[in-house]
Amino acid sequence: MQRVFSTKVLRSDLEERLAELGVYTRWREEGPMPREFLLEEMAKADALITGGLRIDETLLSQAKALRVVSTTSVGYDHFDIAAMRRHGVVGTHTPGVLDDTVADLAMALVLATARRIVELDGWVRQGRWTKGFDESLFGVDVHHRTMGILGMGRIGEAVARRAHYGFGMNVLYHSRSRHPHAEASVHAVYASFDELLRQSDFVVLLTPLTPATIGLMNRDAFAKMKPSAIFINVSRGKTVVEEDLFQALQSGQIRAAGLDVFVTEPTPTDNPLLSLPNVVASPHIGSATQATRDDMDRLAVDNLIAVLEGRFEDARIVPELQDLVKEL
Ligand code: DGY
Repeated sequence: MQRVFSTKVLRSDLEERLAELGVYTRWREEGPMPREFLLEEMAKADALITGGLRIDETLLSQAKALRVVSTTSVGYDHFDIAAMRRHGVVGTHTPGVLDDTVADLAMALVLATARRIVELDGWVRQGRWTKGFDESLFGVDVHHRTMGILGMGRIGEAVARRAHYGFGMNVLYHSRSRHPHAEASVHAVYASFDELLRQSDFVVLLTPLTPATIGLMNRDAFAKMKPSAIFINVSRGKTVVEEDLFQALQSGQIRAAGLDVFVTEPTPTDNPLLSLPNVVASPHIGSATQATRDDMDRLAVDNLIAVLEGRFEDARIVPELQDLVKEL
């Protein structure tokens, strides 16, 4: 009999599959789950399914029976990999099923910032559309411009496909390694980080959050971008130094930004970035469509069951912990 604990509500058919393993629990009362409840359940659980709960030494040292943490996300920067390795706990994630949905959101932010959709929506609603529309309100073109993608994984390739085939854009990319598939299928051209910043009209950040990407977009990076360029972030907020982005936007060093992610989430309403008309903000909704979130939850349940049943080859184990299963 296995004990599965979830920090989130799942669809009833998924919860039934987890209950069939033995005991399935989650917080069912009103209000937020108290930390004591979490720690009590973690002390008993064989498996945990979660969205963004920090999996660190403090939690793992309470979780003596835990064998797997299955996150309902592709990003797993909330996993302390070293601590999971020490405790022999496998981590799984949900790559693949959200690529097109996140790519759609990236393009939505590209279009919204370039054509000033949110700002001008406000302008119409405020009754300011009384006669003509002068050039101070014009936007910039997206089509046939240059998009630079930082982090060319599956999502990057889905964005590049939209940019190249949908909008006739030139696509540059920078990644840890070359991606021959993206180069062949969407004509993406590899560039150094600096070259990409210098040449792109749209810089789209898609890198995972790692020690190497924390604060990647800082004062120096924004200084290399064109004054007409637009910055889009659909990766993680901490890849950006928000104060430096604010300065770059306010001083006209870059034109605009579309931000789905923030250093602190939810971001406080007094975040200075939210005071700028040339910022379009969304509340970390990259994968947030019903169909895609259902697919992610289903995959997370499949992953968890596969690990508990020892079918490791069927589970999407995060790359840094794949060798752990040999020792289990
Ligand atoms: C992920 O899966 O990591 C996304 O950020 C969720 O929207």
